[in-house]
Amino acid sequence: MKNSNSFSSILFCLFSSFLFPFISSTTPSWPPMNSRHAVSTAATPPPPLQLHIIDQHVVMDNGIIKVNLSNPKGMVNGIEYGGIENLLSTDNDEDDRGYWDIVWNLEGSSGTKGILDRLETTDFKVIVENEEQIELSFSRTYNNSSTGGKLIPLNIDKRFVMLRNSSGFYTYAIYEHLKEWPAFNLDNTRIAFKPRKDKFHYMAVADKRQRLMPLPDDRKPPRGQALAYPEAVLLVDPIEPQFKGEVDDKYQYGCESKDSRVHGWISTDPPIGLWQISPTEEFRSGGPLKQFLTSHVGPTTLTVFHSTHYAGEDMVIKFGDNEPWKKVFGPIFIHLNSLPEGEDPLRLWQNAKEQMMAEVQSWPYGFIASEDFPKSDQRGTVSGRFLIRERYVSDESVPASGAYVGLALPGGLGSWQNESKGYQFWTRADQNGSFSLNNVRSGNYSLYGWVPNFIGNYQYSAFIVVTPGSDINVGELVFEPPRDGPTLWEIGIPDRTAAEFYIPDPNPKYINKLYVNHSDRFRQYGLWERYAELYPNEDLVYTVGLSDYKKDWFFAQVTRKIGDNKYAGTTWKIKFQLDSPDTHGTYRLRLALATAHAAELQVRLNDAQALPPLFTTGLIGKDNTVARHGIHGLYRLYTVDIPGGELVVGNNTILLTQASSNSPFVGIMYDYIRLEGPLTSKM
Ligand SMILES: *[C@@H]1O[C@H](CO)[C@@H](O)[C@H](O)[C@H]1NC(C)=O
Ligand SMILES: *[C@@H]1O[C@H](CO)[C@@H](O)[C@H](O)[C@H]1NC(C)=O
Ligand SMILES: *[C@@H]1O[C@H](CO)[C@@H](O)[C@H](O)[C@H]1NC(C)=O
Ligand SMILES: *[C@@H]1O[C@H](CO)[C@@H](O)[C@H](O)[C@H]1NC(C)=O
Ligand SMILES: *[C@@H]1O[C@H](CO)[C@@H](O)[C@H](O)[C@H]1NC(C)=O
Ligand SMILES: *[C@@H]1O[C@H](CO)[C@@H](O)[C@H](O)[C@H]1NC(C)=O
Ligand SMILES: *[C@@H]1O[C@H](CO)[C@@H](O)[C@H](O)[C@H]1NC(C)=O
Ligand SMILES: *[C@@H]1O[C@H](CO)[C@@H](O)[C@H](O)[C@H]1NC(C)=O
Ligand SMILES: *[C@@H]1O[C@H](CO)[C@@H](O)[C@H](O)[C@H]1NC(C)=O
Repeated sequence: MKNSNSFSSILFCLFSSFLFPFISSTTPSWPPMNSRHAVSTAATPPPPLQLHIIDQHVVMDNGIIKVNLSNPKGMVNGIEYGGIENLLSTDNDEDDRGYWDIVWNLEGSSGTKGILDRLETTDFKVIVENEEQIELSFSRTYNNSSTGGKLIPLNIDKRFVMLRNSSGFYTYAIYEHLKEWPAFNLDNTRIAFKPRKDKFHYMAVADKRQRLMPLPDDRKPPRGQALAYPEAVLLVDPIEPQFKGEVDDKYQYGCESKDSRVHGWISTDPPIGLWQISPTEEFRSGGPLKQFLTSHVGPTTLTVFHSTHYAGEDMVIKFGDNEPWKKVFGPIFIHLNSLPEGEDPLRLWQNAKEQMMAEVQSWPYGFIASEDFPKSDQRGTVSGRFLIRERYVSDESVPASGAYVGLALPGGLGSWQNESKGYQFWTRADQNGSFSLNNVRSGNYSLYGWVPNFIGNYQYSAFIVVTPGSDINVGELVFEPPRDGPTLWEIGIPDRTAAEFYIPDPNPKYINKLYVNHSDRFRQYGLWERYAELYPNEDLVYTVGLSDYKKDWFFAQVTRKIGDNKYAGTTWKIKFQLDSPDTHGTYRLRLALATAHAAELQVRLNDAQALPPLFTTGLIGKDNTVARHGIHGLYRLYTVDIPGGELVVGNNTILLTQASSNSPFVGIMYDYIRLEGPLTSKM
């Protein structure tokens, strides 16, 4: 049995849409800045930067915005912009408005919950100060003889950068673990901002994912009522009656890394936007499909660099003893924008997307002071052509059009999806299979790939060593996806998600109006309960040739409630006919999973009672995708050998038992299932 991790996204984004996910050519041009807000016009040059260090605070001021940081803790406690003295919540104390944080744990600990550290720093230094640029450093040094294991064994350096005539500021952080320091686990790290709740009511995370949001007060009892998965709250008595009866949950606004370059909040009165812009995914964990939180009720806006969401414990970064490590997270850009009163505030989203494009185009930034952040001329390029050859389909290699190709630290097949210590660089191949990875940091990488519509993972046999200025052409790479015979039947599309399967309407009691009639209908709350309603007496039966996976294959194989806090596993059947099985051949069942949570998938053939089963995955996954309204987590691919002698003439049944039953949230989502015959077989 093989078990490899692999991926594929079939939602054929145009190739350019991976890099520039939001931009349409019809984007309206931006109106001139409101004179009330603008300091700069073509006639008067923008004022030089000013830095004020007053007692326990440091203020960077470029005439457009003023950023107020606590000294030496390095917390952002004020952003003055657009005539408003502070866009951040002054209801929160100073350390709770804009901050970097880490969740970590001691070596050997299990789970994904740990010790929260807001990274209060002890040293403040001005790195750059001139008329064009300010760069500040807030740092702390780990002292292994004084901390007694209470602090995370990392040196922390939080940087804040402001440029002249820029409507925002940059931030990045450098984390460093020295060889002789203790081992530890890193669960999560991010930067969070808490805009003020009396102003910021409209949230945008994508063109089709934006809405007016409830208030944080609406989530607290008795206005809000926590649901079965407590982050989800039913708004029973919200302050604004329009939200009454809706569900709110931050996980409904999560995004894949590749689609999460800009998100944030809009104030309509006055029209002001506050945005997080990540020009690249290179410093984020887990590659382009890793899902992260974005913005949510609070109001809160996050850039999450590393988390275990939709992946679980396999995603925790484990540092051993004697393991030196250093990583730069960011820079990201905090962008502010505004419009004259009376203009449509939603145009601020258009401008935020344009600003995101501008940041992408100037990546890697040339103005960052730290030597740990390599500039463009210190980086390299890796290019080549990616082809695919699928035996039993064609003898020819064809361009792997739309393939995802990436560089990540060396590991096993598909290891990049839970790799977090290094940097990752991804792109998509063009129609001819050609790809070019630009601005790659120096380092020793493996080259990985996967192709929408095909199962499995590709990994190039050689390591790729990038040095400053290197231009490496790897030539033609040929990926042979797993296949040992012709397709007898298949269910779904190999795209690493369950999106093509049947996704029910939500219970009318648990609606988020944003996702009604929406392409992401899977983001509604409570869909797991709909399985038992649709299949009250008997589990799902799929008949090859008659059933349609879009209608007849429920998107998640979840448990069935059988009493108070009691759940049962389920057994799904796939019925198919074979006229003359090849009794000497080996048939292969390919099971590609889009996610798993505390699940055990057992496979049987024709005999529901067979013990042991023909195959079991054992207990797999802590992705928590069902509870968090996702459509995929980590990708897992299994191959089950079926001896031809066990197949019968006529009707056969494959029984798929999800045996684990301790909660409503355990289960799996399939990506794709295929039965391959031996070379000579016929249906
Ligand atoms: C910076 O913020 C602190 C705390 O909110 C405040 O006391 C101080 O006046 C601010 N400084 C400036 C120059 O705005
Ligand atoms: C602390 O670090 C020093 C070197 O910096 C090392 O020699 C020593 O073993 C460390 N002590 C502990 C308790 O880890
Ligand atoms: C580390 O802590 C020890 C014990 O408190 C102290 O003696 C030493 O000076 C500290 N080292 C540094 C570099 O701060
Ligand atoms: C200042 O920024 C504005 C808006 O981005 C731009 O139109 C203007 O040309 C800039 N001015 C200077 C002197 O760079
Ligand atoms: C990724 O998860 C697998 C288990 O699924 C684990 O064996 C591996 O060590 C993890 N990789 C990293 C880099 O943490
Ligand atoms: C496709 O790639 C091949 C090999 O590099 C090249 O010869 C050919 O011209 C390319 N075709 C197009 C349309 O770019
Ligand atoms: C690159 O990494 C691999 C795997 O760790 C290692 O075997 C190889 O020697 C490394 N190559 C270089 C040049 O460091
Ligand atoms: C959903 O869309 C259908 C057809 O596009 C429309 O008839 C229906 O009213 C919509 N439902 C809601 C709740 O918007
Ligand atoms: C085989 O299955 C088909 C479809 O479920 C059914 O119509 C047929 O009667 C079955 N044949 C036998 C021999 O059981």
